[in-house]
Amino acid sequence: MKTAKDLIIPFTWHERHPALLDRFFYVPAQYAYSQKIFPFFEQEQPLYIEYCSGNGQWIGERAKQNPGSNWIAVEKKFERARKIWLKSHRENLPNLFVVCSEALTFTRYYAPKVREVFINFPDPWPKHRHAKHRLIRPEFLSALCQILASGGKVTCVTDDAQYAGQILKVFQTPEWRLLFQTTDLPDYGKSFFKDLWLQAGRTIYYASFEKV
Ligand SMILES: C[S@@+](CC[C@H](N)C(=O)[O-])C[C@H]1O[C@@H](n2cnc3c(N)ncnc32)[C@H](O)[C@@H]1O
Repeated sequence: MKTAKDLIIPFTWHERHPALLDRFFYVPAQYAYSQKIFPFFEQEQPLYIEYCSGNGQWIGERAKQNPGSNWIAVEKKFERARKIWLKSHRENLPNLFVVCSEALTFTRYYAPKVREVFINFPDPWPKHRHAKHRLIRPEFLSALCQILASGGKVTCVTDDAQYAGQILKVFQTPEWRLLFQTTDLPDYGKSFFKDLWLQAGRTIYYASFEKV
């Protein structure tokens, strides 16, 4: 059985480089160079990515329920990414791979072609002066366009009304078509933050887009 001690990033800041480990891909912070597509899965199957996976509750469940698909969790915090990695081994999910990386860097330089993307509760950066740090912005959508074929989908979920409005705006380009927006999607799946915000009585905003 794997434990947290089995996943160690084997180098210092000075000698850092992207590393493909066992069901885990690590891209050091501020590392955005070589473009190389790694063989993440042994079995070729339709591929789905979740960005901002946190502790991996949502994607773990999806991977378990859909063994005929491959799932990549992208999470920039190492301790959280390691939690998802432990789940993938503990629950024997060879179709769940963990990428510890900043989302835009991974998408631009390393991500393979993907069928569908989910962005669940990205950090909202609610203060106006911090809004530039939000993940869902034009550069990120351009990177997503490179890994999605025409007809590929992106679903975004947030509890932040202002961010929800901004998401609708940034997707308003000829490359994307709005499929739906709603505040009620009962079968979507659970996550730590979804439960937290529902318990606090907050509204959850879902929006789904298709690449034209
Ligand atoms: C609010 S939490 C949501 C976690 C999970 N999706 C959930 O619903 O419980 C946001 C997560 O996104 C991660 N994150 C934020 N910005 C990111 C980025 N640019 N690239 C990758 N992960 C990011 C954070 O580290 C954090 O774990």
